[in-house]
Amino acid sequence: MGQTVRAAVFPVAGRGTRFLPATKASPKEMLPIVDKPLIQYAVEEAIEAGATKLVFVTGSSKRAIEDHFDTDTALEQALTASGKTDLLQSIRDIVPAGVTCIYIRQGEPLGLGHAVLCARPAIGEEPFFVHLADDLIAGETGCLSQMATEYDRHGGCVVAVETVPRESTSNYGIVAVDENSQNRITQIVEKPAPDEAPSDSAVVGRYLLTHRIFDKLERIGEGAGGEIQLTDGIADLLDEEAIYAYSFDGTRYDCGSKLGYLQATVAYGLEHPDTGPEFREHLKDMLSD
Ligand code: G1P
Repeated sequence: MGQTVRAAVFPVAGRGTRFLPATKASPKEMLPIVDKPLIQYAVEEAIEAGATKLVFVTGSSKRAIEDHFDTDTALEQALTASGKTDLLQSIRDIVPAGVTCIYIRQGEPLGLGHAVLCARPAIGEEPFFVHLADDLIAGETGCLSQMATEYDRHGGCVVAVETVPRESTSNYGIVAVDENSQNRITQIVEKPAPDEAPSDSAVVGRYLLTHRIFDKLERIGEGAGGEIQLTDGIADLLDEEAIYAYSFDGTRYDCGSKLGYLQATVAYGLEHPDTGPEFREHLKDMLSD
């Protein structure tokens, strides 16, 4: 029923102050989990879901992201000369053939809603994903693929959600849904205090939206934290368009926090073929001391 989603927007302009000094000169999206930067996991998830147009909304000190997705001829030649074919393939596979990267600068840090609006010229009238690389989701099927399947089924926008402890509602967009109509969102509020939150169902960093969001984002003013919030744009769209909350299968790691980042590193390190078995033994020894 829904159109095939071919575009994905990655808002990557944020400064990542929670990881200073690590993020002073390099983007937080380039922090690695084992051997891949967060933004590469994000891109792989979008490509798995069918995206062929990747739109990065960047800011200052983010050039490393462009370099990462660009061809590095000198490195490829060096790896070829030294016969390191596996490594060569791993860097060649970063952006598969047929996938295009587009970079748009968000000149001022005016918020997530503003960042998404910056992508408008590259999106036009297509449906598109928004992916926040901080939220790393591990699972058999990528979260965006699951959302694309939902969209195909009902043709409405999709926002990924998960239940969070009441006391942390002020860190998230929080939704209320109509359970009798496939969890259609009836209300969405950005970072409400626990006693004002309409539920404990929190938006995580995955959205499937139609271009109609852009007109809304253009009109809304500053919201929570003095920023133009994507949540407020979505709230304005609720009357005109069906937007569904989707509880995905998978485990989310909040890699925007130090603890979540460490948890992801351990989880992925345990699964990685190069490190898994030895790392498991090491952790066992460490914890038994
Ligand atoms: C953003 C959104 C928020 C959402 C969160 C998910 O907040 O504004 O609605 O719940 O991402 O990670 P941020 O974490 O950028 O403050």
